[in-house]
Amino acid sequence: MPACLPVLTSSTAEFLPKQQLLRLIFRLFVGRQRQQWYETLDWEKECDRFRDPSLTYPDYYISQNFHGIQGGYLNAIAATTYDPVTTIASLPDETYVRRQLIAAIDGHPRHILDLGCGTGSSTILLKQAFPEADVTGIDLSPYMLAIAHHRAQAAHVTLNLQHSLAESTDFSSNCFDLVTASFLFHEMPPNIAQNVLREARRLLQPGGQVLILDGDQRKLRRMPWLIDLFREPYSKVYAAEHTETWLKTLDFDAVTTDRIGWIQQLNGAIKRHESMN
Ligand SMILES: C[S@@+](CC[C@H](N)C(=O)[O-])C[C@H]1O[C@@H](n2cnc3c(N)ncnc32)[C@H](O)[C@@H]1O
Repeated sequence: MPACLPVLTSSTAEFLPKQQLLRLIFRLFVGRQRQQWYETLDWEKECDRFRDPSLTYPDYYISQNFHGIQGGYLNAIAATTYDPVTTIASLPDETYVRRQLIAAIDGHPRHILDLGCGTGSSTILLKQAFPEADVTGIDLSPYMLAIAHHRAQAAHVTLNLQHSLAESTDFSSNCFDLVTASFLFHEMPPNIAQNVLREARRLLQPGGQVLILDGDQRKLRRMPWLIDLFREPYSKVYAAEHTETWLKTLDFDAVTTDRIGWIQQLNGAIKRHESMN
């Protein structure tokens, strides 16, 4: 936690989320330097770097206010508050939680895809763990991609970032040996999460690995107040399901679920050698 609270300038005030909890989190966790950077960034220009004008946003994505933010992920406030909110939601230690995904990776993947990469927290760790690999992150929000791009630059890693839909990508079949998704599935209806897994299976080479890091469905079922606190539109239906069952239904092999951190789970599976897509 920073030693002092950032001072609120008039441009920051415009920038701050209206929701009180988010406002507090922003003030406590976003340092002065980063805050000034957000204020001076030409967001539209940054987003144009990634924006695919032919992409049609799905209804489930644009019809909801994620974390209580109007317009969901398609604005700068969502992108700038995301990292501090996630740090809190991943207590006691976000980095530890994300490192469990890295620790679960089999061998040395060369072609890695991170679905719903957001601001790049897991994507950057993947590239740092496997510097020889080409690492691609895709996301529906050009605002989140803009932050991922700057964070990757600051970390001196090169990522291939694309504005794209996780359940229907343009990549050819069997072209990745690792597909990951961190904290994506609780942000979408369960039938879409299953379509994302179907797409992950198509994209993986036979023998390739899928790793899904997200909220612990078993624990979240017992903590609906937590979902309400973070104002997550799809988390209750996500919590009612079992990612492990989805993976088995889609005929993945070696399906595992590990409980990590306080309220996270990591699901892993392998695409069968005999399945081509
Ligand atoms: C909770 S954030 C997770 C971000 C990042 N993976 C992390 O671990 O911090 C969910 C992200 O998924 C993106 N997203 C939601 N639905 C998506 C979809 N169908 N295709 C691609 N990205 C999607 C959102 O824009 C958002 O950036």
